[in-house]
Amino acid sequence: MSDHQEQVAVKEKPAEGFVPKIVAFTCNFCAYAAADLAGSTRTEYPVNIKLIRVPCTGRVDVVHLLKAFEHGADGVYVAGCLEGNCHFAEGNYWAKRRVRYAKKILDEIGVGSRRLEMFNLSAAMFGRFVEVANIMNDRITEMGPSPLNKK
Ligand code: FES
Repeated sequence: MSDHQEQVAVKEKPAEGFVPKIVAFTCNFCAYAAADLAGSTRTEYPVNIKLIRVPCTGRVDVVHLLKAFEHGADGVYVAGCLEGNCHFAEGNYWAKRRVRYAKKILDEIGVGSRRLEMFNLSAAMFGRFVEVANIMNDRITEMGPSPLNKK
């Protein structure tokens, strides 16, 4: 194994006690309502996930996603209504395209596309909301701090 291969094979470990900062853009009609339901049923999800309520994920622009990383997020996700159920018809499809585009940019600038994701759920799916929160928390914890946050 060459030096380069060894470097690639050895995964950088996140700092001890690293707690990622995660921002979730949540649609008012689904994911945010699901978060509310999770709270009502006392279902726990990681406290380091900061929810930003939006009227529809179609309101979330590429600039918002990239700004979240610029302002210190280690991971970001967008949670919108199920496909075909957006209250504004196509907002979640717009969001999906914007997330896909932002992922390309994140790869190009070395932040990594896996730090950004899009999910779809309904207001009743509070279990899925918690699952998604845990998926992103585990993934970003494993990945470590965003390169933009490393000194
Ligand atoms: Fe929920 Fe558009 S209203 S994603």
